Amino acid sequence: MNTLQYGTLYGIGVGPGDPDLIPLKSVNILNRVRVIFAASSSKNAHSQAVNIARPHIPATSEVRLLPFPMTKNQAEKETCWENHARTVIAEMEKGHDVAFLTLGDSLTYATYGYVLKYVLALAPGAPVVTVPGITAYQAAAARVNRPLVEGEESLLVLSGVEGGNRLRELAASVDNVVFMKAYRNAGDISDALAEKNMLESSVAVANCCLENEEVIEDIRTLKARKPGYWTLVLAKKNSHPAAE
Ligand SMILES: C[S@@+](CC[C@H](N)C(=O)[O-])C[C@H]1O[C@@H](n2cnc3c(N)ncnc32)[C@H](O)[C@@H]1O
Repeated sequence: MNTLQYGTLYGIGVGPGDPDLIPLKSVNILNRVRVIFAASSSKNAHSQAVNIARPHIPATSEVRLLPFPMTKNQAEKETCWENHARTVIAEMEKGHDVAFLTLGDSLTYATYGYVLKYVLALAPGAPVVTVPGITAYQAAAARVNRPLVEGEESLLVLSGVEGGNRLRELAASVDNVVFMKAYRNAGDISDALAEKNMLESSVAVANCCLENEEVIEDIRTLKARKPGYWTLVLAKKNSHPAAE
């Protein structure tokens, strides 16, 4: 009887932008997998993750971009994730080891997480190995030489897509906050940080580890200019609350 011998899917986080910040384990994997998948926008055939990993991808490797539509339609997104999972599984069924690249860490606000769920569901016996990557917020904290969290403190990681409301809800028990996707509603994020006594210690980092990297010490200035997509905010509660 012929039993199916799947190849392995490796989820690889390529870090925030500096190819030297890719784990050695991932570099070794990239050197031996047959096919390398990465997400791209459905509008262009561009993958920042592939660009970052490029120095570690052998010239003979097959790189395949999987287009993901920028849509809020959940059914459309689910169909897309499932189709891409089937494409990945089709390679694994041939016995090929494959990698799926994502920016930063593969399990932090990453497309890989959605595709992974479908791969695990549609091919339950298939081997999957996810290698952790350095998230953009870890790299940003390192860039500005600030601890992310210390002692008994807490750290809240938020998406800034809807602005600062989640911080307004949760701030009472939070010492530190990271806003990823802090591009569209940076003004409201800045207001929420001010309301919760976190503005003074906040800093934004745009394009961390990339050529056009920028550290924005006064994030109120982001209200007047629309920051780019690759922007995040790190903030800490001021230990000396402002006088009432
Ligand atoms: C979809 S999330 C991807 C997060 C990624 N998986 C990680 O672990 O860092 C995209 C957001 O990550 C942040 N980001 C990713 N790379 C960045 C960089 N090089 N500099 C600043 N922010 C970055 C930005 O806030 C961006 O809007």
